[in-house]
Amino acid sequence: MEEKEYNRLVDRLKECSEAYYLRDDPIISDGEYDRLYFNLIELERLNPSLIRPDSPTQNVGSGVNKTKFSKVQHADTMLSLENSFSQQEVESFFSRAAGMINVSAESMEIVAEPKMDGLSVSLLYEKGKLKTASTRGNGQEGENITTNAKVIPSIPHELKLADKTIEVRGEVVIKKNDFLNLNKSRIDKGEPVFSNPRNAAAGSIRQLDCRVTASRPLVFFAYCTISDRPFIATQWEALSWLKEQGFTVASASRLCPNVDDAIRYYQHINGVRSRIEYDIDGVVLKINRLDWQKRLGASSKTPRHSVAYKFSSELAATKLLDIKIQVGRTGILTPVGILQPVNIGGVIVSRATLHNKDEIDRKDIRIGDIVLVKRAGEVIPKVEEVMIERRGLDSVPFEFPVTCPSCSAEIAKQSDEVAVRCSAGLTCPAQSIERLKHFISRKAFDIVGLGERVIEELFNASIIKTPVDIFTLKQKVVDGKVNLSDRYGWGRQSADNLLAAIDKSRRISLDRFIFSLGIRHVGEYVSRTIARTYVRYENWRTCMEKSIDLFSSTGKIDAINDMEGIGAIVAHELKTFFLSKHNLSLLKELENFITVTDCEIKTADSSLSGKTIVFTGTLTLTGRKEAKESALSLGAKVSGSVSPNTDFLVAGKNPGSKLKQARSLGVKILDEKAWMEIQNLT
Ligand code: IVH
Repeated sequence: MEEKEYNRLVDRLKECSEAYYLRDDPIISDGEYDRLYFNLIELERLNPSLIRPDSPTQNVGSGVNKTKFSKVQHADTMLSLENSFSQQEVESFFSRAAGMINVSAESMEIVAEPKMDGLSVSLLYEKGKLKTASTRGNGQEGENITTNAKVIPSIPHELKLADKTIEVRGEVVIKKNDFLNLNKSRIDKGEPVFSNPRNAAAGSIRQLDCRVTASRPLVFFAYCTISDRPFIATQWEALSWLKEQGFTVASASRLCPNVDDAIRYYQHINGVRSRIEYDIDGVVLKINRLDWQKRLGASSKTPRHSVAYKFSSELAATKLLDIKIQVGRTGILTPVGILQPVNIGGVIVSRATLHNKDEIDRKDIRIGDIVLVKRAGEVIPKVEEVMIERRGLDSVPFEFPVTCPSCSAEIAKQSDEVAVRCSAGLTCPAQSIERLKHFISRKAFDIVGLGERVIEELFNASIIKTPVDIFTLKQKVVDGKVNLSDRYGWGRQSADNLLAAIDKSRRISLDRFIFSLGIRHVGEYVSRTIARTYVRYENWRTCMEKSIDLFSSTGKIDAINDMEGIGAIVAHELKTFFLSKHNLSLLKELENFITVTDCEIKTADSSLSGKTIVFTGTLTLTGRKEAKESALSLGAKVSGSVSPNTDFLVAGKNPGSKLKQARSLGVKILDEKAWMEIQNLT
């Protein structure tokens, strides 16, 4: 029965998706498609054996049959650059170069350009038309991203020069401001945020659906040309030619009369770095004359005519001793580099994240390599890149595991994610430990004395396997089943302290409780939004349970779908959580030992209390998120769509269709000023 249902659903979705993507002629609404799609995801999650390779979940986006990018051989290897960290290193790089071609170092013009931190892309134009766009890949072979490149406005489809074959290389980036706005809108939609502009750019360009790429604020900065019939004599001319052809070129670039001037330029850029609108991690210094560049050529990895002069304050080089795989709360396998301890800006760093398998492959990181490690503020240190030029014979490529290192279950990769996950879920010990750590963490139950190490110890001793075990620890001690103080090296006092701390944590507010459950994509903000909507734990749980009707007629969790700031992804995760019998019985059991207190709402005297508010357009006086928070804290409900139940529509700049809807329904409309006033009145 289920199989039949499943096949019907896959066929229907394929039919709809072909109509949409191939014929541009949708046969159902987007909402209806999403509903069917989520039903499919759930059905597949519950019955993984049914999954068909042609299911739309295995196969996102426009090229209905496209699952990955084809490969492109680069005619000219896409090299990397040698890194320098000091004036002296730069000077000796260029005096070596000058020596090699027998010219005077003093008279060597240098083009200095910002080193953009994005993704390098090669564009091949034949007879003036953009033929192929590809990523760098391993330098020899990249991925064909032509369709996506064509939707980036700063990439011209045609050049004015029609008779030559020319390759243009450059960096695809997302500007800092655009990045912040992109993440803001992802939070609003309940989608996970990108960790930095580089990742956002890389993720956006490698989309199978070019409409997604088109919706992201990508900019291509051109920085060099390669042609088999060179018609340009210098790098500086190449940059102005690129501008003439309609490319965007980093305006901060400069033609320096000599190396000393180039070093001064580096110092200047280092000083104004934070004011540059995109992330840069150094300056690239290039010998201006292309005939000299040609004579110098390249070693196997890096050219001898250009060098990256990196900003160094937060960077340090050290040896990568090993790579360990960490299994996270939701099963994501993260490779972590074990480093020879190194001092970076006053902090000793001995571990750094390597993010994921793709990152290891892309940067060709091998155990034994000398790597550059970056530590910035509170962010986890990361391996920036390998110093290829210092690679020894003892470096060994890393074999990424094919099974979970904790439970040996198979690992799986979703087509739209770079991360790989352990497929075992609840039965994987590493995931269980991470979930417990999250459960007791500061923003959740906040149990003082029950730190991460203690959780690991008690989990391994089979004393705490589930959250319920934490709250029954006392009884177990009394029953004599477990005696912390005798058996596990715990003094009586520390055991008593722990039990007292656990007791203290038994009362928890609804928002913290929701957060503690560790549901994917349900972080602090989303938990608070949910708590403010439902106020009481019982309300929330019953409403969730009632809504879990796999093939319900609307396919929605009504209240959730209507909550501003909670998108389809969060709704889907909540649904998945409440579909699990294990989770339901965990909640039931927990209820015996804890008290979830109502979400506090300032209802007193608030004229907004109980009112339903919808926001539209850009709010300029406060951000959208702050406005929502404020409305919620004054006891209002915030909804994502206008209905006859809406009390106010707050309309900012450039309001969308919601304004029209509100007008037609006679809903009261407030401009931003009136909205500020109404809050002050309360
Ligand atoms: S020239 C031989 N110019 O840096 C490579 N590269 O570390 C010639 N990059 O893969 C590259 N800004 O992605 C050049 N103005 C710039 C650059 C730049 C950023 C990147 C590029 C390259 C990487 C090398």
